[in-house]
Amino acid sequence: MGCVYFLPSEIECTIKNEQSVLELALKHKIDLDHSCGGSGSCGTCRVFLSWRKIAGAQPVDPPRGDVEAAMAEDRSFEPHERLACQIEPVDGMIITVPEYI
Ligand code: FES
Repeated sequence: MGCVYFLPSEIECTIKNEQSVLELALKHKIDLDHSCGGSGSCGTCRVFLSWRKIAGAQPVDPPRGDVEAAMAEDRSFEPHERLACQIEPVDGMIITVPEYI
């Protein structure tokens, strides 16, 4: 349980049993591209991950799985650039969805 905060929409979403940040976003009608439907092959669900300031232990970014790691290497992602379909939602996450003009 817990909450994920999405920017720039400023929508806070309560985590229930969603398997990915993408699933959580779509459930709350947050505009987040996902051309491949969440298989980790398109990269359109790329987001930026940061964390709410919480007293005590600093949260650690979840490790990349093989699918995400391959794309991150191929496209030279920064450490905080993640695929929303490949990371589980965790309390305290701030997910920034890039705006394309
Ligand atoms: S939806 Fe295609 S990589 Fe995430």
